Parts: sequence; C-alpha cells; structure tokens
Amino acid sequence: MKTEMIYEGKAKKVYATEDPALVIVSYKDDATAGDGAKKGTIVGKGVINNRMSNHLMQLLEKNGVPTHFVEELSDRDTLVKRVSIVPLEVIVRNISAGHFPQRYGVEEGTVFENPTIEFSYKNDDLHDPLLNEYHALALKLATREEIDRIKAMSFQVNEVLKAYFLKRNVKLVDFKLEFGRLSDGTIVLADEISPDTCRFWDADTNEKLDKDRFRRDMGGVEDAYNEMMHRVFGE
Ligand code: TMP
Ligand code: ASP
Repeated sequence: MKTEMIYEGKAKKVYATEDPALVIVSYKDDATAGDGAKKGTIVGKGVINNRMSNHLMQLLEKNGVPTHFVEELSDRDTLVKRVSIVPLEVIVRNISAGHFPQRYGVEEGTVFENPTIEFSYKNDDLHDPLLNEYHALALKLATREEIDRIKAMSFQVNEVLKAYFLKRNVKLVDFKLEFGRLSDGTIVLADEISPDTCRFWDADTNEKLDKDRFRRDMGGVEDAYNEMMHRVFGE
C-alpha cells in the first residue's frame, strides 16, 4: 500500500500510495511544544490520536462536515484523501486557556458567551503568526469563499464536539483545525483531532486531560491520553 514517504511532520508521517488521490498518514509518539523547543515522547500517543481522530472525523461526517477520512488501516495508520493543506491553523475557543489569558488578560477558565475563532499562518519559519482574514486574503492563503466556508465548518465542528464530549464528562475548552482542498477545490477537514490539538478538561474537576500536561511539565501525560481514550471508547 505505502510507496514512498512524502512528508514528515512533528507528530505524523505521510506516505504516497498507488492511488494519486489517496495518502496514508502514520501517527508517531513524538511530541513537541513551544515551537519545537521542547521534544519528547508520549508512549502510545500515536495509537490514541489515530483512533480518536478517526472516530471523531466519522462522527463529524455523520453530522454533515466533510473530512479527509477514508479508512483506518491499523493502530497507527489511516488512509485519507490527498489534499493541499490551506496554510491556516484555525483555533476555536469556548473557555479562556493557553495563549488567551496572557494575550488578553483574561483569567484562565473564563467561559465565553460565544465561541471565538482565530487564524494563524501555518509557517514554521515565521513561528505561525496570528493573522486576520484580510491578511489571509492579502497573502493569498485562501479565497473569501474558502474562508467563509472554513469558519462555518469550524463552528459546526465545535457544536458537534462540545456536545459529544460533555456526554463523556469532558469540557471542550479549545481546539485547532486544519483544512485541505481536494483536487476539485472542495474544502474538507484534514489533519487530526486529538489531545494534541484540543484542550480537554474534566467537567467536574477541570483536571487537564490533554497535551498541556506535556507542554507545562505537569506529569501524568500518558495517563491523561489513556483517560481520554477511555472516555471516548470505554476501553
Ligand atoms: P493556544 O492557546 O496555545 O493558542 O492553543 C489553542 C489550541 O490549539 C489548543 O487546543 C492547542 C492547539 N494547538 C495546536 O494544536 N498546535 C499548535 O501549534 C498550537 C500553538 C496550539
Ligand atoms: N506542536 C507545536 C510545536 O511543536 C506546539 C503545541 O502543540 O503546543 O511547537
């Protein structure tokens, strides 16, 4: 199935297949934070992120959000549609955490009346700078129609996932999405949805159940990923 490796990112590898419209994503246990300054391993993370992301992508498809997902091939490998990634990181927030408290002087844990959305330019050399829609248009990162579609899809993802996780006693604090274009220009949800890319807090205790435990050297990193696996799959 896999032919040559075409891309290696911080947490995943991407392989070509015999079908030019399909690629295989392979999830690693490697973790980075602080723009790659901190490097480490979260044992078992690749399996958890692969399985959880696939599960959530299928849930989103059922709720009308098109995604790149095609088929889970193994614990770490998934067949997805080949896309060209829109170089925007889209962040939706329901509760103040991460960069938000320091950037805007709002206490961590403040619940927003309405979710916020922000964009970063996906560019490691520039350290993923925050930008607005007008910057994205000026830089030709996406068209007006694509940006409108991406915003609508992102808020839809938020509504579906917020309700899904609350049933599992988890608050969806915030998350990062990436989108891709199929060869015909259709925008689909791509990349992953996992404890690497979302903040999850236990709904009763606000215990952090995501990559923040690694970013902030809090310990219990693998336990948090395993707990989220348990909340989602009951395993
Ligand atoms: P932030 O508060 O650090 O901006 O992060 C917002 C959300 O985006 C959080 O759920 C973590 C996720 N995220 C990524 O997935 N990748 C990144 O490189 C960054 C900075 C954040
Ligand atoms: N993945 C990003 C990095 O390597 C950061 C993060 O997830 O916090 O810097």
